[in-house]
Amino acid sequence: MSEVFTFSVSATDGNARCGQISMPRGVIRTPAFMPVGTAGTVKAMYLDQVREAGADVILGNTYHLMLRPGAERIARLGGLHEFARWPHPILTDSGGFQVMSLAALRKITEEGVTFQSHIDGSKHVLTPERSIEIQGLLDSDIQMQLDECVKLPCTDAVAEKAMHLSLRWAERCKVAFGNQPGKAMFGIVQGGAVERLRVESARELVDLDLKGYAVGGLAVGEPQDVMLQMIDIVAPNLPQSKPRYLMGVGTPDDIVESVRRGIDMFDCVMPTRAGRHGLAYTRFGRINLRNARHADDPRPLDEASSCEASSKYSRAYLHHLVRSNEILGMMLLTWNNIAYYQYLMAGLRQAITDGRLDDFIAETKAGWAEGEQ
Ligand code: GUN
Repeated sequence: MSEVFTFSVSATDGNARCGQISMPRGVIRTPAFMPVGTAGTVKAMYLDQVREAGADVILGNTYHLMLRPGAERIARLGGLHEFARWPHPILTDSGGFQVMSLAALRKITEEGVTFQSHIDGSKHVLTPERSIEIQGLLDSDIQMQLDECVKLPCTDAVAEKAMHLSLRWAERCKVAFGNQPGKAMFGIVQGGAVERLRVESARELVDLDLKGYAVGGLAVGEPQDVMLQMIDIVAPNLPQSKPRYLMGVGTPDDIVESVRRGIDMFDCVMPTRAGRHGLAYTRFGRINLRNARHADDPRPLDEASSCEASSKYSRAYLHHLVRSNEILGMMLLTWNNIAYYQYLMAGLRQAITDGRLDDFIAETKAGWAEGEQ
């Protein structure tokens, strides 16, 4: 732990890095996977279980929390950590991305974004300053700049306009955030699938000397090779001494390939959402528990796992719970998936430390080939 926000790299292997982010609320071991706790809850899990599974940090969403229960209310109740009883680090997304995917009647101007709530239709304005103010009311440890993320494919002109707007919003967010030694505000690289725009975005953000850099606007409809190509372009333009966060990614395969290219942090709804839809991520690949072939299978998902959801219950029982739409089925599969993602990150960190990342990734992929993906 540290009174100030720091990042240090302890080992590298090729472009991959193993390190840690320290701040007053704790340490984040990197590469890190951040379970998504959109509305102050990692759906279908106790936060104590999320911690036990190995998570150092969870993600919260400005958009959802500002609408319900409201940022000022959470502040009065002691902030998001106190509200949800998660005393460890929290990273919050800024809201722009969720506005574009969830809200009605969205309008983006230089000033910010206006939209109607997907909950009750009420009208709201999110400016860079208000986004940072809300993230401060939540008492978030790592706050994200407000940005505009465009869906791919799009024209170069659309990508360029959104990227430049995001740069101007980054400057306003930096001013609004000010100097908070124990916390951080990260910038977000945009620029669609255009190399020139990605490089320009990264360089301009680096000039702002922020505490960390995210790569946004990926996993938004493009094939995996385009996403990896963009990471290959962006990573060398970001400082070695600052954490790099790939937003909204991804599958286990996306994660290992991005770690190989120098990414330190990830978040994605995939493990939690898949868990609510009968899908288990394991060392043997992705297993669809809905499938009738599991109905008589007495084996657990992974008998060697330290997670009870993975080692204690039979595939037959999990299949039954999923088919019966039982809440416990969602709880056990979400727990298994978060535990598997954390196990994968721990394996990646160890492999980088041991200088055997390529071998580790090859072995890991060979294991997945036993499953269905
Ligand atoms: N989550 C996934 N992608 C993005 C992005 O480009 N911007 C923001 N703010 N959040 C994201």
